[in-house]
Amino acid sequence: MTDEPLLRVTSLSKSYGARRGCENVSFELWPGEVLAVVGESGSGKTTLLNCVSTRLPPSSGLVSYRMRDGQWRDLYRMSEAERRFLMRTDWGFVHQNPADGLRMSVSAGANVGERLMAVGDRHYGRIRETAIDWLGRVEISADRIDDQPRAFSGGMRQRLQIARNLVTGPRLVFMDEPTGGLDVSVQARLLDLLRGLVSDLGLAAVVVTHDLAVARLLSHRMMVMKDGVVVEHGLTDRVLDDPRAPYTQLLVSSILQV
Ligand SMILES: Nc1ncnc2c1ncn2[C@@H]1O[C@H](COP(=O)(O)OP(=O)(O)OP(=O)(O)O)[C@@H](O)[C@H]1O
Ligand SMILES: [Mg+2]
Repeated sequence: MTDEPLLRVTSLSKSYGARRGCENVSFELWPGEVLAVVGESGSGKTTLLNCVSTRLPPSSGLVSYRMRDGQWRDLYRMSEAERRFLMRTDWGFVHQNPADGLRMSVSAGANVGERLMAVGDRHYGRIRETAIDWLGRVEISADRIDDQPRAFSGGMRQRLQIARNLVTGPRLVFMDEPTGGLDVSVQARLLDLLRGLVSDLGLAAVVVTHDLAVARLLSHRMMVMKDGVVVEHGLTDRVLDDPRAPYTQLLVSSILQV
């Protein structure tokens, strides 16, 4: 157990010219904790996620990360090479559209194995074995290992993307609408699977979703955004059962009516 957060975001703002992406967002993420970022379309969720995961430089603010050796580092003061290494080893990023997170023209096995090779594994037999193990964990049968993701269904692609991200044992995973493009029955199974993996592996995660049911199922804490600003932040059950901000009350009640 550790008594320090993994990630610390301080007064983060991002504007696109005159348009506000997100403004003055601060939060901490603890090891093993899942934070959901919810809000309507255009509220700044993806902007925030991208700024925190170093994919989009913020206009101002600070993002610090506690490395495996215990040292805190300012992510935007790292070299590009260090940041890329972190992304390959310590972090995962699950895109809404699996095609953005997979290599569509190489086999499923290679999609998983490639990440292992990126962290220095060179033993072909062991890489293949680990790939098969991970395909199994995301419920893809071993006889599909040589198929390309383009031959997979949307749900399978998303599960493959998850395996590719988790195979290297990251400490922190970012997800942008991980169940977004899928139909409802597929979503439910994927969510179950994700929830199991996150808790088995003790992963910390930041999950962007506009779906409060996803937040309820996956997250410990949630932040509600509107027009780029965090309007409410608290334990997920508290926020959903006893929303305090008028906007959250509206969001919760309108979802319940659907
Ligand atoms: N590349 C960009 N250039 C200009 N404005 C942008 C850009 N990306 C986002 N924005 C603006 O920033 C605001 C927040 O957008 P963002 O994509 O972060 O919202 P979101 O909450 O992820 O929405 P959605 O649920 O639709 O994905 C919006 O007003 C959007 O128009
Ligand atoms: Mg978005």
